[in-house]
Amino acid sequence: MRVAMGSDHAGLELKRVLADHLRAAGHEVRDLGTEDGRSCDYPDFAKAVCHAVLDGSAERGVLVCGTGQGMAMTANKVSGIRAAVVADTFSARMAMMHNDARVLCLGQRVVGAGLAADIVDAWVSATFEGGRHANRVAKMEP
Ligand code: RB5
Repeated sequence: MRVAMGSDHAGLELKRVLADHLRAAGHEVRDLGTEDGRSCDYPDFAKAVCHAVLDGSAERGVLVCGTGQGMAMTANKVSGIRAAVVADTFSARMAMMHNDARVLCLGQRVVGAGLAADIVDAWVSATFEGGRHANRVAKMEP
């Protein structure tokens, strides 16, 4: 799977761990920044990842900041994107299966690297169920 990833300075370390984890599992990862630990603005990277998902260059996107919240708030303002902040594997799986959340947001200050890797695994291996969920997802659009 092609996965675009982004973080701010507060999510950089976890993003790197997850990028390595996804690559080791055979996924194609594109890191859209940030590239170093200097203070930066998470919306810039959230938007870059969302646009990669929308233009089809990535099938999914992973965003990491301190809490995951700012990334998700930004991503969910991008038309056509559904992003979920997740801190457990069940929610990660369901966010894909029922909500077709192609963007996953994590907080480096919230989840440890081991749990975050399990969360990403649960989400990348899940698929959208469609059916009644497709109708509900369509109703999310304003
Ligand atoms: C940066 O300090 C922090 O505010 C940011 O990474 C994120 O947690 C915002 O939602």
